[in-house]
Amino acid sequence: MFFLLHSLHFICLIGQALAAPADLVHDASLEKRALVPNVLSGAIGTVDGALSSVVGGVAADSSEASGIFSAILGAIEDTIKDQVTATPTNIAQATSVVASIFSATPTTIYDDIIKLAANGIAPDATDLANLLVGAVSGPNSETNINLKNPASPIYPKKSSTDPAYTLTETQLRQVIYIPSTFTYGQKPPVILVPGTGATGYQSFDGNFIPLLTGVSYADPVWLNIPIQLLGDAQVNAEYVAYAINYISGISKRNSSIISWSQGGIDTQWALKYFSSTRKVVSNFIAISPDYHGTQLAYLLCPSFPTLPCAPAVIQQEYNSNFIATLRSNGGDSAYVPTTTVYSSTDEIVQPQSGTGASAYLLDARNVGVTNNQVQAVCGGHPAGLFYTHEGVLYNPLAFALAKDALTNGGPGRTSRLSSLNTVCDEVVAPGLNLANVLTTEEAISTAGISVLIYPFKVFVEPPIMSYAAGK
Ligand SMILES: *[C@@H]1O[C@H](CO)[C@@H](O)[C@H](O)[C@H]1NC(C)=O
Repeated sequence: MFFLLHSLHFICLIGQALAAPADLVHDASLEKRALVPNVLSGAIGTVDGALSSVVGGVAADSSEASGIFSAILGAIEDTIKDQVTATPTNIAQATSVVASIFSATPTTIYDDIIKLAANGIAPDATDLANLLVGAVSGPNSETNINLKNPASPIYPKKSSTDPAYTLTETQLRQVIYIPSTFTYGQKPPVILVPGTGATGYQSFDGNFIPLLTGVSYADPVWLNIPIQLLGDAQVNAEYVAYAINYISGISKRNSSIISWSQGGIDTQWALKYFSSTRKVVSNFIAISPDYHGTQLAYLLCPSFPTLPCAPAVIQQEYNSNFIATLRSNGGDSAYVPTTTVYSSTDEIVQPQSGTGASAYLLDARNVGVTNNQVQAVCGGHPAGLFYTHEGVLYNPLAFALAKDALTNGGPGRTSRLSSLNTVCDEVVAPGLNLANVLTTEEAISTAGISVLIYPFKVFVEPPIMSYAAGK
């Protein structure tokens, strides 16, 4: 069992100060959905009992919390090691297994991660071991040496209207992973900004990295933001702001952004408050963004606020202070041409339909926005069926719109695609294979495990930084 391996993480957790529970709007029915039922031959029966006693107020201190998080992790690890009953052999099988697991309601995310693992969709034993010890090397590295300096200084500030960073320039710069293929401005740079619980490489290795490597219209780099973006989202946004000005500075031209999940709100925060960045971003393509947070945030945090949670997850609650601040004073409108692509069947971010979709961005400044729900655009076609939060990353419409935006300027427009039907009749973006699909789907298990082992969980949302308070 891995409990021993993990005891270090939990010592940190036990040692943290107890604070008053957050005064957040808290839907008890959603909390119950985070309880893990006994899905796999008793593997997690004890988890259910432990969580029930927390909800019932029987066990409520943070030492209990460590036991509960490790029990859930133990169940996931046991499943990956001993209970894999099948492995998909083609894309159709993989997407149908994923759809059947996530279309069951109510959603119980850790339960679903165990079911994915039982179906051969999970980090393998080596990746899991690396994840548990926090090994982030190679293309997942958070400490990259980027020696090239931008044409003119961008730190401590690029423009006097930018707020001060809370991090050093070394900290900000080292999270940028620049692959050996990067051309330093010969091709248009694209910065890939990851989602909650994953590195840039873990987020995009199965989708936009292979799709964009070697093309003429894009030159990808990615951000490996520390502790998989689970800390304060305002700090995560600092990494994005710096990377925008750095990559443009060393390439001497604009960049574009492709984000997944929390990467979308961190980018929007950077564009809103670090306004120098707006001048050098040609295009912002946000995959499964949650500009209005998510009503399902608590699924990732069983029994919050009785048990603590990762700051960035609390900040992505539908009514968080972070989300209210981000959306205020025009933050719910685009700052640069923006393309959003999202799915009504997202298992993490809800709502994702109509103008109330969390991904739905307004265009008060007339910079150009298209909001593209895959079911609305490709209804009845394969690309408009069931797509998970992560599945949108390999959705063929998402890729076609990203390519259109990067190639033709302005937001991606379905009217500019040479054949929308051809796009919608694919299941995954052309060029991706089964391994890419599995890698992409595994990002959700990686994210869930990362949340469980995150050592600095809190009971209250981090305060809004002074530069943003009331602005
Ligand atoms: C750079 O991006 C800004 C903001 O989107 C845009 O106004 C400007 O035209 C772009 N510059 C170039 C050279 O594309």
